[in-house]
Amino acid sequence: MKAEADGKVESGSSDLSFVVSFVLALESSCDETAAAVCGLDGRLRSSEVATQIPLHRRTGGVVPEVASRSHILHVRQLVKQSLAEAGVSLREIVAFAATQGPGLVSSLLVGTSMAKALAVASGRPYLGVNHMEGHLLSPFMRGDHEVRRCVALIVSGGHTLLVRVAGVGRYEVMGGTRDDAAGEAFDKVAKMMGLPYPGGPEIDRLAPRGDPKAFAFPRSFLERDSLEFSFSGLKTAVRYELPKVNLQDEQVVADLCASVQAAIVEVLVEKLMRAARRAGETCVTVSGGVVCNRGLRAALEQRCAAEGLELLLAEPGLSTDNAGMIAFAAVQRFRVGQTSPLNAEVNPNLSLTTL
Ligand code: KG4
Ligand code: ZN
Repeated sequence: MKAEADGKVESGSSDLSFVVSFVLALESSCDETAAAVCGLDGRLRSSEVATQIPLHRRTGGVVPEVASRSHILHVRQLVKQSLAEAGVSLREIVAFAATQGPGLVSSLLVGTSMAKALAVASGRPYLGVNHMEGHLLSPFMRGDHEVRRCVALIVSGGHTLLVRVAGVGRYEVMGGTRDDAAGEAFDKVAKMMGLPYPGGPEIDRLAPRGDPKAFAFPRSFLERDSLEFSFSGLKTAVRYELPKVNLQDEQVVADLCASVQAAIVEVLVEKLMRAARRAGETCVTVSGGVVCNRGLRAALEQRCAAEGLELLLAEPGLSTDNAGMIAFAAVQRFRVGQTSPLNAEVNPNLSLTTL
């Protein structure tokens, strides 16, 4: 625990131990409304999520207007829930944080407006958090909660990034995607196959019943030593394959899922190994919604063990969008004295290196 940062001495304590203070964070960048409370010691006390997935299933994707309306309906209740679950009162919150970008503007505005209002009402600072930094740091929410040097792979619905991490705020992007993000590739391919939104978890569910070698889908490694990604070739290959197969046959669908998953996983694992070698780092981390994928987790564990790399995977519950990771990132920033002005604007294209 960072005792100095907590600032309050427990009365009557003989060992001068400190009472922890807390940050409350909101996440509303896309289709999950979420609130969380994290102690300044880095330990998460609550993480509440109201998912909009059933709402967006009807349209097969997120309609921004529908998403922001739903955020407005749920955000107040989530704040209350996160405090109740943490057993913390509003008075004990020393800063209010929210995702400032990247994401959908109308959705981001709901969380940031709420966090700013709470900050003003309670006379505490506001902190705008980069959603990607939330994902990036989420593997460190386990164990001793300390951020360490590593090479990080972020695989979400909007991003596929390889990042060299030297410490909090010291990030160097090593590679990204030239077209679709890994999660987007899962979702688009699943949609073509008629699977429900979001497709990633559906492919993960069906893949274990199929043969990953049934279809030889392309692995796009690009130029030798490239740390960039491209998943558009895979999408095209699936599109050409679909008219030739019977999608009513469950085994065919399972084989397609297993083969698509194997193609995506192989590229992700290989590029992460390349990046670790290039950076000379022995610790690698993986975060973002796609890290829930069981095939990816198993392949990473196997490969890192073989290569003698330490692997830190974000917990599945803290991998898809959540406010816990935003609260944790906010704590890292707040502990070194950072806050944001109340007129800080949301930024739909906020990059990891512009914080
Ligand atoms: O990080 P996230 O919740 O949202 C963004 O910031 O984009 O990631 C969502 C993405 C979606 O594309 C979803 O299909 C994918 O993560 N995803 C999965 C799995 N669970 C979520 N992809 C493959 N296997 C899964 N089990
Ligand atoms: Zn995300």
